[in-house]
Amino acid sequence: MNLILVLITTSVLAQGPDGADLFQRDCASCHAAPTADSRAPNREALRLRTPESIVNALGDGVMRVQGEKLSDPERRAIAEFLTGRPVGDSTTAVNAGLCASQTPMSNPAAGQHWNGWGPDVTNTRSQPAPQAGLTAAQVPNLKLKWAFGIPGATQARSQPAVAGGRIFLGSEPGTVFALDARTGCTYWTFRAQAGVRTAISIGPYKNARGASGYAVYFADGKANAYAVDATTGRQIWVRKVDEHPAARATGAPILHAGRLYVPLSGVSEETSAAKPDYQCCTFRGSVTALDANTGDIVWKAYTVPEPKPRGKSTTGAQLWGPAGAAVWSSPTIDTKRGAIYVATGNSYADPPQPTSDAVVAFDLKTGKMLWSSQVTPKDVWILGCGGRGQAPNPNCPEEVGPDFDFSASPILTKLPNGRDIIVVPQKSGVAYGLDPDKKGEQVWQYRAGRGSAIGGVWGSAVDAQQAYIWEFDTNRSFETINGVAAKGGSFDGPGVVVVGGMLYATSGNGGLVGRPGNVLLAFGVD
Ligand code: HEC
Repeated sequence: MNLILVLITTSVLAQGPDGADLFQRDCASCHAAPTADSRAPNREALRLRTPESIVNALGDGVMRVQGEKLSDPERRAIAEFLTGRPVGDSTTAVNAGLCASQTPMSNPAAGQHWNGWGPDVTNTRSQPAPQAGLTAAQVPNLKLKWAFGIPGATQARSQPAVAGGRIFLGSEPGTVFALDARTGCTYWTFRAQAGVRTAISIGPYKNARGASGYAVYFADGKANAYAVDATTGRQIWVRKVDEHPAARATGAPILHAGRLYVPLSGVSEETSAAKPDYQCCTFRGSVTALDANTGDIVWKAYTVPEPKPRGKSTTGAQLWGPAGAAVWSSPTIDTKRGAIYVATGNSYADPPQPTSDAVVAFDLKTGKMLWSSQVTPKDVWILGCGGRGQAPNPNCPEEVGPDFDFSASPILTKLPNGRDIIVVPQKSGVAYGLDPDKKGEQVWQYRAGRGSAIGGVWGSAVDAQQAYIWEFDTNRSFETINGVAAKGGSFDGPGVVVVGGMLYATSGNGGLVGRPGNVLLAFGVD
């Protein structure tokens, strides 16, 4: 008896934690049929990921609440079990394809550029022809010039920024890359504290000691905002803008007149709330204005009031609300009206708020809320409320909403009659036109598609002339200039960036819908 026991113990120790058992215990309820949640990637989708990306998701990504109680070896064991591959050190393999010489960063505002998300503060996402340097007639002649593999990533949804002859790109494992815009060679890499999904903005900075130069600005999956020297990749400052464990940046911070405005979302609380004993919910969407030179907080504005105790759930857990109304996308700046607009997502907890699924305007100088225009009232939603095969969850709101977030930025543009209008597409498939002079009063709405709670509309462009007729199959492997094995996948991100006669696209979503991938593709005409 004793001998057998000893043998069993030794073999368990020799193998380390059992990934299959851990998966069954902690993950299967959402990720494996038949009880699976329709939003969670299934076993097959998880198998296609890199083991590193699963470790990342549990460490500081969307699954970090689920990963909290697991040790590092346990996270690795689950990742290796799911993918059938060992966790390697590919996340740090960024030394191939370095540029032969270090040319200093040139003025980002001079020369052709696509800076930040918008590419300007109104978020029209249309590129003026002189900046694009590419005519519609040339588009069919685009050829793949080079491909860059993002080490350790299975998603490539961070939009590249191009300015001063360089490309700046964030990545899922948290590495930010500065590449040469023509050749794709690497000038520097910077390691953020968590994944960087946001687009990057570039602008001048001056620090307290009088040093000046150009900085790149971005935010990570742990709600840290950064300024990094654009020439050297050296950190200038880092600022955590929200202490809530669910807080993360998905929308790009926007740089304007010496301030960086950082929007925050908190999707992992929607997921954590599926646990019946979770104290649902306390995350609030917000935008924080930082001094671009120092990272000091100028103001911080929330989309909903502070959560208050709202009774106990049937499991005895303290419940909180209101919560949610995350800001998923980059804010939009209206210099004429001195306002900053954000589009918000659903509420996470009762009582329902007038500022969820809405466009909310804040005073650009002070952060005071000016107005809010809601398109879908009472959309209170968390995971695990009433789907097929789901156990009743005592955290659920009284009435479960449709989960119709705004995931795209408001666009500030002009009507043919010269009047300003805010245009914003919703996950519901409906786009809205709002009047900035009448506190966001609805002018029109238009159903563009069927819509769904999954996926989203991330980057619409309002300029009809930008519609291309051109296709390129990215669902394949690529030879990359930095020697990192790279695959393309589906596009569920920002769309393409056209600048300086080149077209750049990241390929690979690997999240809820679509195929994984980890490649930045650069196209040009001969
Ligand atoms: C309560 C349900 C639930 C549990 C339990 C759960 N997940 Fe998830 N998981 C989800 C949902 C929902 C998503 C999609 C969320 C999103 O992308 O916003 C997801 C996404 C993921 C992703 C993709 C992350 C990304 O960045 O796109 C990975 C990897 C993952 N889960 C792994 C795990 C592992 C490993 C476990 C067990 C330790 C686990 N999950 C436990 C519901 C769950």
